[in-house]
Amino acid sequence: MLPHVYDQLYRTRIDETVRYLSHYVTSHPDPCRILDIGCGTGAVLGRLAENHNVTAKGVDCDPDLIAYAKKGVSSRVDFEVGDILDKECRERLIAAGPYDLITMMFHVVNYFPYLTQVQELLQDLRGVLTDRSMFCFDAWGPEVQLFSGYSRELSDGSFIITKRIPDESLVGSILVEFTELLPDNEGKFDLHKEDVLMTPHSRSALELVARQAGYSQIHFRPGLDGWDMLCNLSCWSGAVNDR
Ligand SMILES: C[S@@+](CC[C@H](N)C(=O)[O-])C[C@H]1O[C@@H](n2cnc3c(N)ncnc32)[C@H](O)[C@@H]1O
Repeated sequence: MLPHVYDQLYRTRIDETVRYLSHYVTSHPDPCRILDIGCGTGAVLGRLAENHNVTAKGVDCDPDLIAYAKKGVSSRVDFEVGDILDKECRERLIAAGPYDLITMMFHVVNYFPYLTQVQELLQDLRGVLTDRSMFCFDAWGPEVQLFSGYSRELSDGSFIITKRIPDESLVGSILVEFTELLPDNEGKFDLHKEDVLMTPHSRSALELVARQAGYSQIHFRPGLDGWDMLCNLSCWSGAVNDR
């Protein structure tokens, strides 16, 4: 999805995520070291860096989103292109640790077709978290009617329509088809289409893999609204009693 459309479309959710993560960042000794996996346009990380003393790294596999993210924020955020499922990328991020907070927000895990990939990732990153660190991520489960018949007009006149198509190649996965109608300089509309493969992961399965990967104190909070996250997990890497 085009970056500015993304930021407009999800403004409320970005605000809510920043508010939630800010509680954690302010309760942490300065500077809070953050890694944001699947950082997208960098909106969440940029806002945290603007308002708090953080050192932050954002990674995303989409070069267009990273180019956009780099334009927007302070020098305290380091953005890079990388696929977190790729071993080399992961080792690079691990070498840059430790981190006080790792975030993977707004259904990044639904881009991973297999739960084992989530478990391996949690396991590998467990080693770069301190005993007071938090790993925070969220997901859609199979119960959620992903984007079914969803459409919205944005303030610049652009229009986004999403629909889902069952994917025959991967059991349980669906293709989410985004169609964006964007105004050009002459007031005409350009059509952009993008298909994203997404796999729902249930809350109980994610909780289990987080425990197996060595996380404790797994908390859930409700999603923002009907079609937002089904499950938000905050996993602490140590047994801390005062949460
Ligand atoms: C829905 S967006 C969420 C963006 C951002 N975290 C937010 O809260 O607005 C999901 C992002 O995950 C990225 N992503 C998906 N799979 C990835 C992977 N294997 N490695 C890195 N980024 C990935 C996508 O490119 C996309 O930008």
